[in-house]
Amino acid sequence: MTESQASNFTPRVFSGAQPSGNMHLGNYLGAFRNWVKLQDQFDECLYCVVDMHAITVWQNPSDLRDQIREAAAAYIASGVNPEKSILFNQSQVSGHAELAWVFNCVARLGWLNRMTQFKDKAGKNREKATTGLYVYPNLMAADILLYKGTHVPVGEDQKQHLELTRDIASSFNENYEAEVFPLTEPLIQAEGARIMSLRDGTKKMSKSDPSDLSRINLTDDVDAISKKVRKAKTDADAIPSEVDGLEGRPEAKNLLGIYAALSDKSLADVCQQFGGQGFGDFKKDFADLATSHLAPITTEMARLMENPDHVDDVLRKGAERARAIAEPVMNEVKDVIGFLR
Ligand code: TYM
Repeated sequence: MTESQASNFTPRVFSGAQPSGNMHLGNYLGAFRNWVKLQDQFDECLYCVVDMHAITVWQNPSDLRDQIREAAAAYIASGVNPEKSILFNQSQVSGHAELAWVFNCVARLGWLNRMTQFKDKAGKNREKATTGLYVYPNLMAADILLYKGTHVPVGEDQKQHLELTRDIASSFNENYEAEVFPLTEPLIQAEGARIMSLRDGTKKMSKSDPSDLSRINLTDDVDAISKKVRKAKTDADAIPSEVDGLEGRPEAKNLLGIYAALSDKSLADVCQQFGGQGFGDFKKDFADLATSHLAPITTEMARLMENPDHVDDVLRKGAERARAIAEPVMNEVKDVIGFLR
């Protein structure tokens, strides 16, 4: 989008995460940390627990309720201020489902067939995947555009979905000859946008990895973090003093990259700092840094989870504020399409 197009719309940040359990360091470094910074740069930020996305794969109902609360607790513990930002739960605002249907009638099969996340998640058993998983990116576009979101802070893995969001927005605007939706800008950070598994540096750190050793969860205590860092896969070579020396060493690159993101340094600076050392000593520093960052978050999450009524209340109030923005947008969409209301 050109700057002039962007300026036709009120700057508004939207982002979300799936409450599918095991919120991890990748979510924190790729997303939550950035969400918190943006609260000071934008007047309006909406941070959503996307429970409707979570049920595109099976979720046990009573676990889901706790996972939704835990996701909200993770946002707040990471620094999202629910007084300032709008923190809410997707299924409590019906406009998400309504607009997603409209977008099902805008997006093309060919566009969805290109989505790599569907291919990864459906795997070989494609015929058994839910249709919800297939049209997931249309719901994601609806999440953002229901609020005419202009900026979306995410990790690298969501880039393709945001390109689709732009395609849907421009197609809708073109079909109906009306400038209803902005072309959303992704906000992806230089460091921390793609945190990899601690067991395999070629795989993304993920909530659904069956190995708990592959990720640092936001609920992990100091001992668990230390153990996972100790067991993190590395190689036998020393740490290089230049970034080029990390070529073909995905696990080494990942650990140094995480260190860089946590300490707000560049990867080049971290290579300089530790160049020549083995991974044994580095891992001790790494565990200390990760623990000092995450311990306050873990403690605050645990405190919030002891009072689920408070978390539910925060989400209810957030949904009310979100509905106030969504309703006029949905009315505009209905008018433009030719629905009666
Ligand atoms: P989800 O729940 O998988 O992840 C939430 C956020 O965390 C980021 N992330 C990572 N960043 C760096 N390294 C990693 N290993 C890593 N794993 C996850 C994700 O990029 C994301 O920013 N489809 C989205 C949720 C969503 C959404 C939206 C996001 C639904 N509607 C609208 C933005 C706007 C998802 O599955 O994220």
